[in-house]
Amino acid sequence: MALKITVIGTGYLGATHAAAMAELGFEVLGLDVVPEKIAMLERGETPMYEPGLEELLRRHVAGIEGSSGRLRFTLDWAEAAEFGDIHFVCVNTPQKHGEYACDMSYVDSAVDSLAPHLKRPALVVGKSTVPVGSADRLAARLAELAPAGERAELAWNPEFLREGFAVEDTLHPDRIVIGVRSERAEALLREVYAVPVGEGSPFVVTDFPTAELVKTSANSFLATKISFINAMAEVCEAADGDVAKLAEAIGYDDRIGRKFLRAGIGFGGGCLPKDIRAFMARAGELGADQALTFLREIDSINMRQRGRMVELAREALGGGPFLGKRVAVLGATFKPDSDDVRDSPALNVAGQIHLQGGQVTVYDPKGMDNAARLFPTLAYAPSALEAVRGADVVLHLTEWREFRELDPAVLGEVAASRILLDGRNALDADLWRKSGWTYRAMGRPTA
Ligand code: UDX
Repeated sequence: MALKITVIGTGYLGATHAAAMAELGFEVLGLDVVPEKIAMLERGETPMYEPGLEELLRRHVAGIEGSSGRLRFTLDWAEAAEFGDIHFVCVNTPQKHGEYACDMSYVDSAVDSLAPHLKRPALVVGKSTVPVGSADRLAARLAELAPAGERAELAWNPEFLREGFAVEDTLHPDRIVIGVRSERAEALLREVYAVPVGEGSPFVVTDFPTAELVKTSANSFLATKISFINAMAEVCEAADGDVAKLAEAIGYDDRIGRKFLRAGIGFGGGCLPKDIRAFMARAGELGADQALTFLREIDSINMRQRGRMVELAREALGGGPFLGKRVAVLGATFKPDSDDVRDSPALNVAGQIHLQGGQVTVYDPKGMDNAARLFPTLAYAPSALEAVRGADVVLHLTEWREFRELDPAVLGEVAASRILLDGRNALDADLWRKSGWTYRAMGRPTA
């Protein structure tokens, strides 16, 4: 009989995973503790913007016309425990307030709520990003609480999806990594992932700590690449070099690779910043903090980019205070194709300039509502054109496609001065300059 799957936590990761599992042909039950979330998902809607996800949900959520009916939702732990052969734990692990460490309370409470109902053999699979050592601790907790005892087993299967590509990354992952303690657990997960593995996704089988560490080290490596190129941008600026050319040239070396070498205002979002901090905190607990001191520098280079952008804007406006100056900000989300504004470099820059007296007007294709909730005192415009109207300087801070398609001549008609600062090194410098704009980007020559 085909495996039945539950997905615990239907946020970003869980909703995507649940829909993808249904797409692969499994019967899926998604569980959440928030009734409003369940109600939305049952209508085939998501609380966040993610390309392709609502379409996928509508293809499978039971009760929606024409759907496969393979995906249902519940608030009931006993129902979930009874339903699933495999339970994927997909809850959030945010940064603890005022600390570097990660908050494990949602993962802990998911296991504590599910386990007492597990009466028959089941595999509980953690997908959340956790400090190394968590799986070991959770396995013991599971065996202790579950009536099925040792037959309620744990495995770890980190998730690498990127916002904006969540559906694609889940259905066609770069790799699947599992940490297991038994052949049975491995066999069950091989069955779950048979389709992507058949299509060529590598399948890496390892132990608990390695599986947990793969995720945090992958994110640390990505963060390091970005901060590395941002450090090179600083040196390029001092030496009149061009970091975009430099990135292209070093990227042709296969060992380095061209991706994740775009200099600018740095990384943000709900993952990279908090994951490298939680990793440092955990290494400290393990007595291995010296191994990760470099991540402190990666973090501080990253945070410095935001301040450098503010200074670039001040310089562009003549060097004085921002008071009375009009600043247009294009982009509010931490990356394009997402409405996520968590730890967004763009909003941080906008907020800093606002606090220093600048009149900031923000436009973002999808992130306006979330941005306005977080920064209600900023002004928001309904389009890029309206944000730019009357602006003394324009800051391009999130590289949406819509901004690449803007006509610099049209914007030039409404701006008070034609000064564009590209905080993402993503616009066509020549095009803007031809239309009479002063184009500046971090780490690149002024003309
Ligand atoms: C990241 C990881 O990529 C993903 O594998 C993991 O599962 C979750 O964390 P995500 O947070 O969606 O995914 O964003 P990502 O695409 O990695 O971008 C992170 C930040 O880095 C964004 O703010 C982006 O603008 C910035 N970035 C990215 C750069 O500044 N330069 C680059 O070259 C690439």
